[in-house]
Amino acid sequence: MKLKKLLAIALALVMVLALCACGSSSSSTTADSSASTDTAAADTSAADTAADDAAAADDTASDDAEEVEETELTTINAGKLTVSMSADFPPYENLDDSGDIVGIEVDIMSLIAEQLGLELQIDDMDFDSALLAVQQGKSDMVVSGVTITEERKLVMNFTDSYTTAVQVIVVPEGSEVTLDNLGDQLIGTQRGTTGFIYCEDDYGSDHVVGYDSYTLVIQALLNGQVDCVVMDDSVARAYVAENPSLSILDTEYAVEEYAFGVDKNNTALLDAVNTVLNALIDDGTVQSIIDQYISE
Ligand code: ARG
Repeated sequence: MKLKKLLAIALALVMVLALCACGSSSSSTTADSSASTDTAAADTSAADTAADDAAAADDTASDDAEEVEETELTTINAGKLTVSMSADFPPYENLDDSGDIVGIEVDIMSLIAEQLGLELQIDDMDFDSALLAVQQGKSDMVVSGVTITEERKLVMNFTDSYTTAVQVIVVPEGSEVTLDNLGDQLIGTQRGTTGFIYCEDDYGSDHVVGYDSYTLVIQALLNGQVDCVVMDDSVARAYVAENPSLSILDTEYAVEEYAFGVDKNNTALLDAVNTVLNALIDDGTVQSIIDQYISE
């Protein structure tokens, strides 16, 4: 018994190291918004193969773990951790050139799912829909750079926070927008985000345009359809890096904390995810994943 538990832990550790080393994930994805398919994306890269090996090792570990009566979790799809996500949010979650969902939260969730003995199923959709999915029993968790807010706490449970973020203002070349005259502008945001909600609260809905995805928000800014964009700092930096005519103002609009939103009816899952997440924070894994994507 004891030996099996040790073996399970050892295998889990090997898997963590293997995943950290290759820095990739083998998450299944669906590209279409709202569509929730079970099709695992074809794993092509060598990194994915390594991740698969790790996952296979973990299967053995979780089998053993069950024998020693470790966590038995109920999820909406048995054996799976179904996660709703808006994959327009680099470096937390975005589609890479081959259409796989990659990023900080994908790596963290891959480790969490594997340590819980669940297969990670990521469903890609608009941010609004991703928040709704976890409230309607269509996903176990929403993982999307979700800021903890009091309103959201009413409809989902939040894990502990694993990082902070800042709402910043993105402007085009030659812009005269400042934090002080923000109320005179037409502000582009992603619908349902804190940027959208705060700007509507502060300046009224006439001053705010909500788009389904950040790809569309940034396109609107480049086209001159909005005067500026309010969005999360690291993500803003990723989009500005791709679009050199844009820049980020040096002022902070709001400071926030990211966490994962969990189905309010599944407190066992919340506890289990928190246990793994906190271990990954304490041993430095989360920070090292963040450092792989964000250099500062
Ligand atoms: N942090 C902001 C919020 O919670 C924006 C999150 C948007 N996430 C995304 N994957 N598009 O409202």
